[in-house]
Amino acid sequence: NRPERITCVEDLRQLARRRVPRMFYDYVDAGAYTEATYQANQRDLASLNFVQRVGIDISNRSLTDTILGQQVTMPLALAPTGLTGMQHADGEILAARAAQAFGVPFTLSSMSICSIEDVAQATSAPFWFQLYVMKDRAFIERLVARAHAAGCTALVLTVDLQVQGQRHKDILNGLSTPPKPTLMNLLNLATKPRWCWGMARTSRRTFGNIVGHVDGIEDVSSLAGWVAEQFDQTLSWKDVRWLREMWNRKLIVKGVMTPDDAQSAIDHGADAVIVSNHGGRQLDGAPSSISALPTIAERVGQQAEVHIDGGIRSGQDLLRARALGAQAAYIGRPFLYGLGAMGQVGVRRCLEIIHRELDITMALCGVTNIKDVDPSILTTGADPFR
Ligand code: FNR
Repeated sequence: NRPERITCVEDLRQLARRRVPRMFYDYVDAGAYTEATYQANQRDLASLNFVQRVGIDISNRSLTDTILGQQVTMPLALAPTGLTGMQHADGEILAARAAQAFGVPFTLSSMSICSIEDVAQATSAPFWFQLYVMKDRAFIERLVARAHAAGCTALVLTVDLQVQGQRHKDILNGLSTPPKPTLMNLLNLATKPRWCWGMARTSRRTFGNIVGHVDGIEDVSSLAGWVAEQFDQTLSWKDVRWLREMWNRKLIVKGVMTPDDAQSAIDHGADAVIVSNHGGRQLDGAPSSISALPTIAERVGQQAEVHIDGGIRSGQDLLRARALGAQAAYIGRPFLYGLGAMGQVGVRRCLEIIHRELDITMALCGVTNIKDVDPSILTTGADPFR
Protein backbone atom coordinates (compact mmCIF):
# COMPACT_ATOMS: atom_id res chain seq x y z
CA ASN A 1 0.00 0.00 0.00
CA ARG A 2 2.69 2.50 -0.90
CA PRO A 3 1.11 5.83 -1.90
CA GLU A 4 2.49 5.64 -5.45
CA ARG A 5 0.55 2.40 -6.00
CA ILE A 6 -2.70 4.27 -5.24
CA THR A 7 -3.64 5.65 -8.64
CA CYS A 8 -7.21 6.93 -8.30
CA VAL A 9 -9.74 7.98 -5.68
CA GLU A 10 -11.43 4.58 -5.94
CA ASP A 11 -8.22 2.92 -4.69
CA LEU A 12 -8.38 5.12 -1.58
CA ARG A 13 -12.01 4.15 -1.11
CA GLN A 14 -11.20 0.44 -1.20
CA LEU A 15 -8.39 0.85 1.28
CA ALA A 16 -10.52 2.96 3.61
CA ARG A 17 -13.20 0.30 3.52
CA ARG A 18 -10.66 -2.18 4.86
CA ARG A 19 -9.17 0.07 7.52
CA VAL A 20 -12.06 2.09 8.98
CA PRO A 21 -14.62 0.45 11.33
CA ARG A 22 -17.76 -0.37 9.41
CA MET A 23 -20.08 2.07 11.14
CA PHE A 24 -17.81 5.03 10.31
CA TYR A 25 -17.04 3.88 6.77
CA ASP A 26 -20.77 3.47 6.11
CA TYR A 27 -21.43 6.91 7.60
CA VAL A 28 -19.27 8.37 4.83
CA ASP A 29 -20.21 6.12 1.95
CA ALA A 30 -23.98 6.51 2.10
CA GLY A 31 -26.72 8.82 0.92
CA ALA A 32 -30.27 9.49 2.05
CA TYR A 33 -33.06 6.92 1.53
CA THR A 34 -32.75 5.27 -1.92
CA GLU A 35 -29.43 7.06 -2.60
CA ALA A 36 -30.77 8.17 -6.01
CA THR A 37 -29.37 11.69 -5.62
CA TYR A 38 -26.09 10.41 -4.17
CA GLN A 39 -25.64 8.28 -7.31
CA ALA A 40 -26.89 10.96 -9.72
CA ASN A 41 -24.16 13.36 -8.55
CA GLN A 42 -21.40 11.12 -9.90
CA ARG A 43 -23.33 9.68 -12.84
CA ASP A 44 -24.27 13.05 -14.34
CA LEU A 45 -20.69 14.30 -14.10
CA ALA A 46 -19.41 11.17 -15.82
CA SER A 47 -21.90 11.63 -18.66
CA LEU A 48 -20.34 14.92 -19.75
CA ASN A 49 -17.92 14.31 -22.60
CA PHE A 50 -14.85 16.35 -23.45
CA VAL A 51 -13.86 17.65 -26.87
CA GLN A 52 -10.40 16.31 -27.74
CA ARG A 53 -8.26 19.01 -29.37
CA VAL A 54 -4.89 18.66 -31.09
CA GLY A 55 -2.32 20.81 -32.85
CA ILE A 56 -2.06 23.30 -29.98
CA ASP A 57 1.16 24.03 -28.06
CA ILE A 58 0.27 22.74 -24.58
CA SER A 59 3.79 22.68 -23.15
CA ASN A 60 3.21 25.52 -20.69
CA ARG A 61 0.29 24.89 -18.37
CA SER A 62 -1.11 26.53 -15.25
CA LEU A 63 -3.72 25.28 -12.80
CA THR A 64 -3.29 28.00 -10.20
CA ASP A 65 -6.18 30.30 -9.52
CA THR A 66 -8.00 32.07 -6.69
CA ILE A 67 -11.04 31.19 -4.59
CA LEU A 68 -12.57 34.33 -3.07
CA GLY A 69 -9.28 36.09 -3.57
CA GLN A 70 -7.21 33.34 -1.94
CA GLN A 71 -4.41 31.83 -4.03
CA VAL A 72 -4.85 28.11 -4.70
CA THR A 73 -2.82 25.52 -6.59
CA MET A 74 -6.04 24.32 -8.24
CA PRO A 75 -9.67 25.48 -7.85
CA LEU A 76 -10.55 22.82 -5.25
CA ALA A 77 -11.35 22.90 -1.53
CA LEU A 78 -12.06 20.29 1.14
CA ALA A 79 -15.75 20.27 2.08
CA PRO A 80 -16.82 20.40 5.73
CA THR A 81 -17.56 16.92 7.03
CA GLY A 82 -18.76 15.95 10.50
CA LEU A 83 -17.01 13.28 12.59
CA THR A 84 -13.90 13.47 10.40
CA GLY A 85 -11.87 12.56 13.45
CA MET A 86 -13.57 9.15 13.42
CA GLN A 87 -12.09 8.21 10.04
CA HIS A 88 -8.62 8.53 11.55
CA ALA A 89 -7.34 9.79 14.87
CA ASP A 90 -6.87 13.58 14.74
CA GLY A 91 -8.54 13.46 11.32
CA GLU A 92 -9.37 17.16 11.08
CA ILE A 93 -5.83 18.20 11.94
CA LEU A 94 -4.30 15.78 9.43
CA ALA A 95 -6.68 16.81 6.64
CA ALA A 96 -6.08 20.50 7.34
CA ARG A 97 -2.31 19.98 7.24
CA ALA A 98 -2.50 18.06 3.97
CA ALA A 99 -4.71 20.74 2.38
CA GLN A 100 -2.42 23.53 3.52
CA ALA A 101 0.72 21.80 2.30
CA PHE A 102 -0.95 21.34 -1.07
CA GLY A 103 -2.28 24.88 -1.26
CA VAL A 104 -6.05 24.40 -1.15
CA PRO A 105 -8.55 25.49 1.55
CA PHE A 106 -9.70 23.16 4.33
CA THR A 107 -13.17 23.69 5.85
CA LEU A 108 -13.72 22.57 9.45
CA SER A 109 -17.24 21.33 10.23
CA SER A 110 -19.17 22.52 13.29
CA MET A 111 -19.56 18.79 13.99
CA SER A 112 -15.84 18.07 14.03
CA ILE A 113 -14.09 15.97 16.66
CA CYS A 114 -11.10 18.33 16.96
CA SER A 115 -12.08 21.87 17.92
CA ILE A 116 -11.44 25.11 16.04
CA GLU A 117 -8.66 25.84 18.52
CA ASP A 118 -7.10 22.36 18.14
CA VAL A 119 -6.88 22.82 14.36
CA ALA A 120 -5.64 26.41 14.60
CA GLN A 121 -2.90 25.37 16.99
CA ALA A 122 -1.78 22.43 14.85
CA THR A 123 -1.63 24.30 11.53
CA SER A 124 0.12 27.39 10.28
CA ALA A 125 -2.19 28.82 7.59
CA PRO A 126 -5.80 29.95 7.94
CA PHE A 127 -8.66 27.52 7.33
CA TRP A 128 -12.42 27.97 6.82
CA PHE A 129 -15.17 27.22 9.32
CA GLN A 130 -18.60 25.72 8.58
CA LEU A 131 -21.59 26.72 10.66
CA TYR A 132 -24.97 25.15 11.32
CA VAL A 133 -27.49 27.56 12.82
CA MET A 134 -28.68 26.25 16.18
CA LYS A 135 -31.54 27.48 18.32
CA ASP A 136 -29.09 28.62 21.00
CA ARG A 137 -28.08 31.85 19.24
CA ALA A 138 -25.77 32.92 22.07
CA PHE A 139 -23.80 29.72 21.41
CA ILE A 140 -23.66 30.56 17.68
CA GLU A 141 -22.34 34.02 18.49
CA ARG A 142 -19.61 32.49 20.65
CA LEU A 143 -18.76 29.94 17.96
CA VAL A 144 -18.45 32.63 15.28
CA ALA A 145 -16.26 34.67 17.62
CA ARG A 146 -14.03 31.62 18.20
CA ALA A 147 -13.68 31.08 14.44
CA HIS A 148 -12.75 34.75 14.07
CA ALA A 149 -10.22 34.59 16.90
CA ALA A 150 -8.68 31.46 15.35
CA GLY A 151 -8.09 33.42 12.15
CA CYS A 152 -10.58 31.56 9.93
CA THR A 153 -10.84 33.52 6.69
CA ALA A 154 -14.26 32.29 5.53
CA LEU A 155 -17.47 31.19 7.17
CA VAL A 156 -19.42 28.52 5.31
CA LEU A 157 -23.06 28.67 6.37
CA THR A 158 -24.86 25.41 5.60
CA VAL A 159 -28.57 25.96 4.99
CA ASP A 160 -29.81 22.54 3.84
CA LEU A 161 -29.79 20.52 7.06
CA GLN A 162 -32.38 22.01 9.39
CA VAL A 163 -34.13 18.63 9.25
CA GLN A 164 -32.08 15.53 8.59
CA GLY A 165 -32.41 13.11 5.67
CA GLN A 166 -32.32 9.50 6.81
CA ARG A 167 -29.50 7.11 5.98
CA HIS A 168 -30.60 3.51 6.45
CA LYS A 169 -27.10 2.24 7.14
CA ASP A 170 -26.58 4.65 10.02
CA ILE A 171 -29.71 3.35 11.70
CA LEU A 172 -28.71 -0.28 11.23
CA ASN A 173 -25.23 0.52 12.54
CA GLY A 174 -26.59 2.27 15.61
CA LEU A 175 -25.05 5.57 14.49
CA SER A 176 -27.97 7.54 15.79
CA THR A 177 -28.36 10.11 18.53
CA PRO A 178 -27.43 8.85 21.02
CA PRO A 179 -25.15 6.22 19.42
CA LYS A 180 -26.07 2.57 20.05
CA PRO A 181 -23.29 0.47 18.54
CA THR A 182 -24.40 -3.06 17.69
CA LEU A 183 -22.53 -6.15 18.84
CA MET A 184 -21.49 -6.74 15.22
CA ASN A 185 -19.95 -3.29 15.08
CA LEU A 186 -18.08 -3.79 18.32
CA LEU A 187 -16.73 -7.09 16.97
CA ASN A 188 -15.85 -5.30 13.73
CA LEU A 189 -13.61 -2.94 15.74
CA ALA A 190 -11.43 -5.91 16.64
CA THR A 191 -10.53 -6.27 12.95
CA LYS A 192 -9.23 -2.66 12.76
CA PRO A 193 -6.22 -2.62 15.11
CA ARG A 194 -4.47 0.26 13.36
CA TRP A 195 -7.54 2.48 13.74
CA CYS A 196 -8.07 1.46 17.38
CA TRP A 197 -4.44 2.10 18.25
CA GLY A 198 -4.61 5.58 16.75
CA MET A 199 -7.80 6.41 18.60
CA ALA A 200 -6.47 5.10 21.89
CA ARG A 201 -3.74 7.73 21.75
CA THR A 202 -6.07 10.67 21.05
CA SER A 203 -9.27 9.80 22.87
CA ARG A 204 -9.21 13.10 24.74
CA ARG A 205 -10.88 14.88 21.81
CA THR A 206 -14.70 14.83 21.42
CA PHE A 207 -16.82 17.33 19.48
CA GLY A 208 -14.54 20.10 20.61
CA ASN A 209 -16.60 22.92 19.13
CA ILE A 210 -19.52 22.12 21.41
CA VAL A 211 -18.55 19.95 24.39
CA GLY A 212 -17.46 22.21 27.22
CA HIS A 213 -18.86 25.30 25.47
CA VAL A 214 -22.55 24.88 26.35
CA ASP A 215 -23.84 24.70 29.91
CA GLY A 216 -24.50 21.09 30.87
CA ILE A 217 -22.81 19.57 27.80
CA GLU A 218 -19.71 17.95 29.20
CA ASP A 219 -19.58 14.64 27.29
CA VAL A 220 -20.86 12.83 24.21
CA SER A 221 -23.96 11.36 25.83
CA SER A 222 -25.28 14.73 26.97
CA LEU A 223 -24.27 16.19 23.60
CA ALA A 224 -26.38 13.81 21.50
CA GLY A 225 -29.74 14.92 22.85
CA TRP A 226 -28.78 18.58 22.68
CA VAL A 227 -27.68 18.41 19.03
CA ALA A 228 -30.80 16.46 18.00
CA GLU A 229 -33.11 19.24 19.13
CA GLN A 230 -30.87 22.24 18.36
CA PHE A 231 -31.07 22.44 14.55
CA ASP A 232 -33.24 25.51 14.07
CA GLN A 233 -36.08 24.91 11.64
CA THR A 234 -36.97 28.59 11.66
CA LEU A 235 -33.76 29.37 9.75
CA SER A 236 -34.51 31.98 7.09
CA TRP A 237 -32.72 34.56 4.94
CA LYS A 238 -32.81 37.09 7.73
CA ASP A 239 -30.49 34.80 9.71
CA VAL A 240 -28.05 35.01 6.81
CA ARG A 241 -28.21 38.80 7.15
CA TRP A 242 -27.69 38.45 10.92
CA LEU A 243 -24.53 36.43 10.35
CA ARG A 244 -23.36 38.80 7.63
CA GLU A 245 -23.48 41.62 10.16
CA MET A 246 -21.56 39.55 12.71
CA TRP A 247 -18.81 38.31 10.34
CA ASN A 248 -16.58 40.74 8.46
CA ARG A 249 -14.68 38.16 6.38
CA LYS A 250 -15.89 35.98 3.47
CA LEU A 251 -19.34 34.44 3.84
CA ILE A 252 -20.26 31.39 1.76
CA VAL A 253 -23.80 29.97 1.71
CA LYS A 254 -23.79 26.21 1.15
CA GLY A 255 -26.70 24.17 -0.12
CA VAL A 256 -28.54 26.13 -2.82
CA MET A 257 -30.01 24.25 -5.77
CA THR A 258 -32.07 26.91 -7.61
CA PRO A 259 -31.25 30.31 -9.17
CA ASP A 260 -33.80 32.03 -6.91
CA ASP A 261 -32.25 30.66 -3.73
CA ALA A 262 -28.77 31.56 -4.97
CA GLN A 263 -29.99 35.09 -5.65
CA SER A 264 -31.54 35.36 -2.17
CA ALA A 265 -28.31 34.20 -0.56
CA ILE A 266 -26.39 36.91 -2.40
CA ASP A 267 -29.04 39.54 -1.67
CA HIS A 268 -28.60 38.74 2.03
CA GLY A 269 -24.86 39.15 1.95
CA ALA A 270 -23.17 35.97 0.66
CA ASP A 271 -19.84 36.40 -1.16
CA ALA A 272 -20.26 32.96 -2.74
CA VAL A 273 -22.81 30.18 -2.97
CA ILE A 274 -22.18 26.46 -3.06
CA VAL A 275 -24.48 24.55 -5.38
CA SER A 276 -24.93 21.45 -3.27
CA ASN A 277 -27.42 18.76 -2.30
CA HIS A 278 -25.20 17.81 0.64
CA GLY A 279 -23.64 14.96 -1.32
CA GLY A 280 -27.04 13.27 -1.71
CA ARG A 281 -27.41 12.98 2.06
CA GLN A 282 -30.49 15.19 2.43
CA LEU A 283 -33.25 15.49 -0.21
CA ASP A 284 -33.29 12.13 -1.96
CA GLY A 285 -34.79 12.64 -5.41
CA ALA A 286 -33.20 16.05 -5.89
CA PRO A 287 -31.33 16.46 -9.19
CA SER A 288 -27.56 16.16 -9.26
CA SER A 289 -25.67 19.28 -8.29
CA ILE A 290 -23.86 19.43 -11.68
CA SER A 291 -27.24 19.54 -13.47
CA ALA A 292 -28.32 22.47 -11.29
CA LEU A 293 -25.08 24.40 -11.84
CA PRO A 294 -25.45 26.00 -15.32
CA THR A 295 -28.68 27.93 -14.67
CA ILE A 296 -27.42 29.13 -11.29
CA ALA A 297 -24.08 30.24 -12.74
CA GLU A 298 -25.89 32.05 -15.53
CA ARG A 299 -28.17 33.89 -13.11
CA VAL A 300 -25.73 34.95 -10.37
CA GLY A 301 -22.24 34.26 -11.73
CA GLN A 302 -21.58 37.95 -12.39
CA GLN A 303 -22.54 38.99 -8.85
CA ALA A 304 -20.75 36.42 -6.70
CA GLU A 305 -18.61 33.32 -6.97
CA VAL A 306 -20.49 30.12 -7.71
CA HIS A 307 -18.99 26.96 -6.20
CA ILE A 308 -20.20 23.36 -6.35
CA ASP A 309 -19.89 20.06 -4.53
CA GLY A 310 -21.29 16.57 -4.91
CA GLY A 311 -19.84 13.67 -6.85
CA ILE A 312 -16.45 15.18 -7.71
CA ARG A 313 -14.16 12.13 -7.83
CA SER A 314 -11.42 13.17 -10.24
CA GLY A 315 -9.65 16.00 -11.98
CA GLN A 316 -11.92 15.31 -14.94
CA ASP A 317 -14.94 16.07 -12.74
CA LEU A 318 -13.34 19.24 -11.43
CA LEU A 319 -12.73 20.33 -15.03
CA ARG A 320 -16.36 19.55 -15.97
CA ALA A 321 -17.62 21.66 -13.07
CA ARG A 322 -15.32 24.47 -14.05
CA ALA A 323 -16.51 24.31 -17.67
CA LEU A 324 -20.13 24.66 -16.55
CA GLY A 325 -19.50 27.79 -14.51
CA ALA A 326 -18.11 26.88 -11.08
CA GLN A 327 -15.17 28.96 -9.90
CA ALA A 328 -14.32 26.14 -7.49
CA ALA A 329 -15.44 22.67 -6.45
CA TYR A 330 -15.23 20.88 -3.11
CA ILE A 331 -14.63 17.24 -2.33
CA GLY A 332 -16.17 15.51 0.68
CA ARG A 333 -15.95 11.73 0.49
CA PRO A 334 -12.76 11.55 -1.62
CA PHE A 335 -10.58 13.15 1.04
CA LEU A 336 -12.33 11.15 3.76
CA TYR A 337 -11.42 7.95 1.90
CA GLY A 338 -7.84 9.20 1.76
CA LEU A 339 -7.86 9.98 5.46
CA GLY A 340 -9.34 6.62 6.41
CA ALA A 341 -6.92 4.81 4.12
CA MET A 342 -3.64 6.47 5.08
CA GLY A 343 -4.17 9.52 7.29
CA GLN A 344 -2.44 12.70 6.16
CA VAL A 345 -0.53 10.87 3.42
CA GLY A 346 -3.84 9.62 2.02
CA VAL A 347 -5.35 13.10 1.86
CA ARG A 348 -2.22 14.36 0.14
CA ARG A 349 -2.40 11.47 -2.30
CA CYS A 350 -6.04 12.29 -3.05
CA LEU A 351 -5.10 15.88 -3.88
CA GLU A 352 -2.10 14.81 -5.98
CA ILE A 353 -4.25 12.43 -8.01
CA ILE A 354 -6.93 15.04 -8.72
CA HIS A 355 -4.32 17.68 -9.56
CA ARG A 356 -2.59 15.42 -12.07
CA GLU A 357 -5.86 14.29 -13.65
CA LEU A 358 -6.91 17.91 -14.01
CA ASP A 359 -3.61 18.84 -15.64
CA ILE A 360 -3.58 15.98 -18.15
CA THR A 361 -7.27 16.30 -19.05
CA MET A 362 -7.06 20.04 -19.56
CA ALA A 363 -4.04 19.52 -21.83
CA LEU A 364 -5.85 16.90 -23.92
CA CYS A 365 -8.69 19.39 -24.35
CA GLY A 366 -6.12 21.80 -25.76
CA VAL A 367 -6.33 24.30 -22.89
CA THR A 368 -3.22 25.54 -21.10
CA ASN A 369 -4.62 27.78 -18.37
CA ILE A 370 -7.41 26.81 -15.98
CA LYS A 371 -8.68 30.38 -16.20
CA ASP A 372 -9.43 29.83 -19.92
CA VAL A 373 -11.66 26.79 -19.38
CA ASP A 374 -15.15 27.39 -20.78
CA PRO A 375 -18.14 25.31 -21.93
CA SER A 376 -16.57 24.71 -25.36
CA ILE A 377 -14.39 21.93 -23.89
CA LEU A 378 -17.57 19.85 -23.44
CA THR A 379 -19.57 18.35 -26.29
CA THR A 380 -23.15 19.51 -26.31
CA GLY A 381 -24.21 15.90 -26.09
CA ALA A 382 -26.99 16.45 -28.63
CA ASP A 383 -25.89 13.52 -30.77
CA PRO A 384 -22.39 12.46 -29.82
CA PHE A 385 -22.34 9.53 -32.29
CA ARG A 386 -23.28 11.40 -35.44
C1 FNR B 1 -20.93 15.82 4.94
N1 FNR B 1 -21.37 17.09 4.58
C2 FNR B 1 -21.43 18.09 5.53
N2 FNR B 1 -21.72 19.37 5.17
C3 FNR B 1 -21.73 20.36 6.08
O1 FNR B 1 -21.99 21.50 5.73
N3 FNR B 1 -21.45 20.09 7.39
C4 FNR B 1 -21.16 18.84 7.84
O2 FNR B 1 -20.88 18.64 9.02
C5 FNR B 1 -21.17 17.79 6.88
N4 FNR B 1 -20.91 16.51 7.27
C6 FNR B 1 -20.71 15.53 6.31
C7 FNR B 1 -20.26 14.28 6.69
C8 FNR B 1 -19.98 13.32 5.72
C9 FNR B 1 -19.46 11.99 6.14
C10 FNR B 1 -20.18 13.62 4.35
C11 FNR B 1 -19.86 12.60 3.28
C12 FNR B 1 -20.66 14.85 3.99
C13 FNR B 1 -21.58 17.42 3.15
C14 FNR B 1 -20.27 17.83 2.49
O3 FNR B 1 -19.86 19.09 2.94
C15 FNR B 1 -20.42 17.93 0.97
O4 FNR B 1 -21.55 18.71 0.65
C16 FNR B 1 -20.53 16.57 0.28
O5 FNR B 1 -19.71 15.62 0.92
C17 FNR B 1 -20.13 16.69 -1.18
O6 FNR B 1 -20.31 15.51 -1.87
P1 FNR B 1 -19.14 14.41 -2.11
O7 FNR B 1 -17.89 15.13 -2.52
O8 FNR B 1 -18.98 13.68 -0.82
O9 FNR B 1 -19.74 13.56 -3.17
